[in-house]
Amino acid sequence: MSESNSDLNPLRINIERLQQRIEQLAKIGALEGGGVCRLALSDEDRKGRDLVCQWMRELGLEVSIDKIGNVIGLRQGLDNLEPVVTGSHIDTVATGGPYDGNLGVLAGLEVIQTLNDAGITTRRPLAVGFFTNEEGARFAPDMMGSGVHQGALELDEMLAVTGIDGVTVGDQLQKIGYAGDTPVASFKAHSFVELHIEQGPVLEQENVQIGAVTGVQGISWNEYTISGISNHAGTTPMSFRHDPGYVACAIATEVRRLVTATAQGQVGTVGQIKLDPNLINVIPRKAVITVDLRNIDEALLQQVENQLAVIIEKLADDEQVTVTRRQLARFQPVKFDGQMIDLVERSAKALGYSCKQMPSGAGHDAQMFAPNCATSMIFVPSQGGISHNIREYTSPEQLQAGANVLLQVILQRAEQG
Ligand code: GLV
Ligand code: MN
Ligand code: MN
Repeated sequence: MSESNSDLNPLRINIERLQQRIEQLAKIGALEGGGVCRLALSDEDRKGRDLVCQWMRELGLEVSIDKIGNVIGLRQGLDNLEPVVTGSHIDTVATGGPYDGNLGVLAGLEVIQTLNDAGITTRRPLAVGFFTNEEGARFAPDMMGSGVHQGALELDEMLAVTGIDGVTVGDQLQKIGYAGDTPVASFKAHSFVELHIEQGPVLEQENVQIGAVTGVQGISWNEYTISGISNHAGTTPMSFRHDPGYVACAIATEVRRLVTATAQGQVGTVGQIKLDPNLINVIPRKAVITVDLRNIDEALLQQVENQLAVIIEKLADDEQVTVTRRQLARFQPVKFDGQMIDLVERSAKALGYSCKQMPSGAGHDAQMFAPNCATSMIFVPSQGGISHNIREYTSPEQLQAGANVLLQVILQRAEQG
């Protein structure tokens, strides 16, 4: 390992300790086969939160909970300056793995423990946070807690959001005991750095150990409700039909065709189609379908959104059904700070790791901090590029590399005046 960089601190994290915490947290909401289901603000999320809060307090962090349920653990510095913040989320999708989000929070705690053990107090305060409902799988939009924290989303609007099971964010926060009283923007971060698994195939395919993340692609989530006429599957001639199920499937096919024809990094996903009724011999009355479109290029993303709107209007017209659209999330592409990206890359290389600059395909809490403070992320490889899946896996060596880069970046930023 070449450690030629004079800025390199000799301190290293303890991977066994980090692994133990990852494994312990993953037991809460554990799924058969190694996965985790801790949907935002569920009872499992509460149990996960309680455990991480307990760890924060054991490490001597001052724990605060804000009005959207974000939890911040603060470690005082030598000077009363804006803190260097790290963290991520501990909610998961219903078919999640142990690393998505959790790694960033628990690696943050491991950095704190490493500093505690070494008796080091940094110049700037440090904070480790976990932000409410990053996934957006139960309540849309995603990145809800960090979005409110950084002023991109309105607190009252978000508290009123109704989830897929009909309950609101505000009520669930009360129910699980995480409707805190700290005001949401109670501090401004000096810098934000988040360690996360890549959740895609690039690092593994290119045999690179660390990704220095340059930004996050724009995200457009819409839900379409298609209403038609329910009727008998056998007796209704094809020319008499006003079939929402057919239109939903046609939208799904058109999303794939449009995205493929656009190319240039455009991706598109239909993750939900619900038919009502959902029966073999009944033309449905109603269909609800979601479309997730993403691109690093805002102009291209808008172009695809507009093209899809025209296509859906024509499909509805041809089938004589009505379609209403509800926007669930819309975030523009985000560029991270050049100096922070360089610092991640330099730290990785100084530790002897291969590193490449790359954009993120997934949404992250870091993107909410980026407009307001110097921000970047550290990626470690995902085996087979698999995530949002119980098979999500990153090896201990890869986690260790990422957490050591995180430690170096935090130490560097925390000494800045
Ligand atoms: C969040 O994980 C997203 O990118 O959908
Ligand atoms: Mn995540
Ligand atoms: Mn995720």
